[in-house]
Amino acid sequence: MTRVLSGIQPTGDVHLGNFLGALRQWAIDQHTHDSFYTAVDLHAVTVQQDPLELRSKTLETMATLVAVGLDPEVCTLFVQSHVPCHTELSWLLECTVSFGELRRMTQFKDKSAKQSDSGQEHVSAGLFTYPALMAADILIYDADRVPVGDDQRQHLELTRDIAERFNSRYGETFVLPEAAIPKIAARVMDLQEPTNKMSKSSESPMGTVGIFEETSAIAKKFKRAITDSENQVRFDFEAKPGVTNLLSILGAATDRDPESLADEYHQYGPLKNDTAEAIITVLEPVQNRRAELLADPAELGRIIARGAEKASEVAVVTVQRAKDAMGFLSAG
Ligand code: AMP
Ligand code: TRP
Repeated sequence: MTRVLSGIQPTGDVHLGNFLGALRQWAIDQHTHDSFYTAVDLHAVTVQQDPLELRSKTLETMATLVAVGLDPEVCTLFVQSHVPCHTELSWLLECTVSFGELRRMTQFKDKSAKQSDSGQEHVSAGLFTYPALMAADILIYDADRVPVGDDQRQHLELTRDIAERFNSRYGETFVLPEAAIPKIAARVMDLQEPTNKMSKSSESPMGTVGIFEETSAIAKKFKRAITDSENQVRFDFEAKPGVTNLLSILGAATDRDPESLADEYHQYGPLKNDTAEAIITVLEPVQNRRAELLADPAELGRIIARGAEKASEVAVVTVQRAKDAMGFLSAG
């Protein structure tokens, strides 16, 4: 069976982009692939985190993963820092990737520019070397397939380059992974600024829909979504980013083709209402399930401990293989 691995940062609130672009795909894949999903807390600390908040967000993220339908009996669900050999492999890969390759990563360029614009002098070295850690997350499980949103495509390409270089230097060690980018909802855009992707760090709260927000607040955000003055429903991202985003969201929520949905609407009002309603129908059971889990910390604790154990069993073997290939002296 092919292996799948993906990760989500336990920061901010999970939004519709994460849900439609990533989490829903994970829940589908678990039934056809040997699947590993992780809350990447080690990635979160590339920017400074409040310790109490990191802890509670990590727990909430694990509850969220179960609530969206990931079954701990079917897939391996774990917290990244519970499997310490991710950081060990990351070092070996940092020594395989080049400074120039890391410097070309657009996410690093964007995030570091954003930090300096907001007056923060401190850009951590971890933010720069982060793609090596991400490559370690993937290669350590011999993953064939990595479902991610479009924004992670470049990191996946780099992961393949790193794996290829390692294999050609030291012999076949790693499986070359493929990115799996969803066709619909690969980029859910901000409802207020539909040319920007919906993001946890966005400065427009009305543009970002958290999946655990009150349903009335969600409905309001869709009602106020920015469209355009043409008053014609067409699927055309260049000319009509707002309307096209609504059609994509509606299509993703109802499993329908967004382009053909456009023919069913003549006005923006009903499109906004139906999109809100479809999303709320999908989210309500997820919201209820997460609340139940957070009310039962013992059960959540068992799920997390079991995941760490299952993930470690696989990860230690790969790290040892990589160390042997590179020529590290064994201890025993
Ligand atoms: P992050 O929020 O950066 O931890 O992302 C978690 C997952 O959600 C990754 O696979 C991202 O590619 C995906 N993702 C994040 N934002 C969006 C978005 N606006 N549209 C679609 N997918 C997204
Ligand atoms: N970098 C990803 C993001 O910001 C999260 C991530 C970390 C990840 N490690 C991963 C995704 C491994 C897929 C596979 O969204």
